[in-house]
Amino acid sequence: MELRSGRESDVDNWKEVNLIYNSALKQISTKLQILNDEFQHVHRYNPIEHIKSRMKTSESIVKKLKRHGYESTIENMIQYVNDIAGIRVICSFTSDIYQIAEMLGNQSDIKVISIKDYINNPKPSGYKSYHMLVTVPVYLSDRIVDTKVEIQIRTVAMDFWASLEHKINYKFERNVPVHIKNELIECSKMISELDKRMLSLNEEVQAIGLESE
Ligand code: GTP
Ligand code: MG
Repeated sequence: MELRSGRESDVDNWKEVNLIYNSALKQISTKLQILNDEFQHVHRYNPIEHIKSRMKTSESIVKKLKRHGYESTIENMIQYVNDIAGIRVICSFTSDIYQIAEMLGNQSDIKVISIKDYINNPKPSGYKSYHMLVTVPVYLSDRIVDTKVEIQIRTVAMDFWASLEHKINYKFERNVPVHIKNELIECSKMISELDKRMLSLNEEVQAIGLESE
């Protein structure tokens, strides 16, 4: 990422970086809203329940750099912290997740850097979600900056699980008792089962809708 030249102060540079990542979040958010609206127009339903976006605080960026053994410089933030701009997309059904990811990834200005499919390969904790790291061009007055955005796509049920597990980890400062860990893994399996059954229920109902049209 190229910063405006002639800036001496780190504060100014940080403000500029912040503005660029914020703009990237807006770009991705708009793209997702357009896809959702178009889906409503063509298929008469919304694959996206809601979208949440957030900027990582400078405190957690510094913490993450430290954890990975890097000095806290703006260059290191840009190079090594992939989730400065983060967006979470909550869908109704697992099939929606893959459709949204494919449609977004196929857009010509989006570059997909990496994909982590924790739905087909859940984490040992039981965490499930589909992660995409992409870059999107941000058009400034004098240049175009390809900017990284981390996108997490999950169902309502997966999101419910992830937020409770996050709270539990926070409460126990990561030393979660074994029986609670096991219960979370059990719940994660139930969520997979629930997502599967809700999907087939929806498919069945949609098929009936088609017959009677
Ligand atoms: P981080 O250093 O945490 O960013 O991990 P990473 O760079 O290896 O990426 P990963 O795809 O594993 O995780 C990125 C993000 O996914 C995290 O910041 C969380 O928001 C979410 N996440 C990953 N694992 C878990 C988990 O076990 N539980 C919950 N609740 N969230 C998780
Ligand atoms: Mg992270």
